[in-house]
Amino acid sequence: MVLHANNLVKRFGGIVAVNNVSLKINGGEVVGLIGPNGSGKTTLINLVSGFYKPDGGRIVFEGIDITKKEPYERVKLGIARTFQIPRLISNMTALQNVAYAIVGSKRFREKKMTLEEALSEAIYYLDIVGLLRKRDVLVKDLPLYEQRLLELARALATNPRFIMVDEVMAGLNPVEADNVAKLVQRLREEFKLTILWVEHVLRIIMRSVERVLVMNEGKIIAEGPPHEVVKNPVVVKAYIGEEVVL
Ligand SMILES: Nc1ncnc2c1ncn2[C@@H]1O[C@H](COP(=O)(O)OP(=O)(O)OP(=O)(O)O)[C@@H](O)[C@H]1O
Ligand SMILES: [Mg+2]
Repeated sequence: MVLHANNLVKRFGGIVAVNNVSLKINGGEVVGLIGPNGSGKTTLINLVSGFYKPDGGRIVFEGIDITKKEPYERVKLGIARTFQIPRLISNMTALQNVAYAIVGSKRFREKKMTLEEALSEAIYYLDIVGLLRKRDVLVKDLPLYEQRLLELARALATNPRFIMVDEVMAGLNPVEADNVAKLVQRLREEFKLTILWVEHVLRIIMRSVERVLVMNEGKIIAEGPPHEVVKNPVVVKAYIGEEVVL
């Protein structure tokens, strides 16, 4: 098993953003995480990636208790993420952003890599996401779609085994969204990734994941294969609504 979270709690003042959530994700699985706005999806990712420390509960990754570890320590263990709003370094080029992630990685230090080697690895990752021709463009001049691709390249450059993607399709047109979905699928196979995939676009989730978790008001209210979960009356009531056509 890859990830095991137990009874996670995260409060913000009076709000319980994550309320006693437990989950298991097995190696190689692609798990979808859906739920209405404000249901706690991003907070859960923040807990697993270490950006927030939980008020209760425990997180074990590949047998190691990571509950108290800092985000960079979790990255070194093989946990990566993308952000709902891309968090790239806007005054650096696409290439520099990926190279920066490599310079901060465990293998850069352990293998005593040179800057040239980091740059050539960065080129490899840019190529994988189809951004090679944008290598020298400043991030602030890249459209959202390409920033999302770059976030994926940067996450990959940390050599993850487990990656959490937070609404990588939000704000994209349907063609771009389909491209990103296909890319995530391809990366999964090429890099043998385990994935937790937060997404509002149900059409994409339905065909991309094997199992779906549904959050509502900080709790996981349903879990199962996508086609069963979307018919679950509890899920329809909390999230999907009768009118959704899949
Ligand atoms: N840093 C924070 N400070 C205060 N409240 C927060 C913070 N982060 C999240 N919350 C609150 O916690 C709850 C869960 O938010 P979260 O961002 O996890 O939801 P989400 O499911 O990712 O929603 P969305 O689909 O809109 O991205 C919301 O009520 C939100 O306002
Ligand atoms: Mg969110």
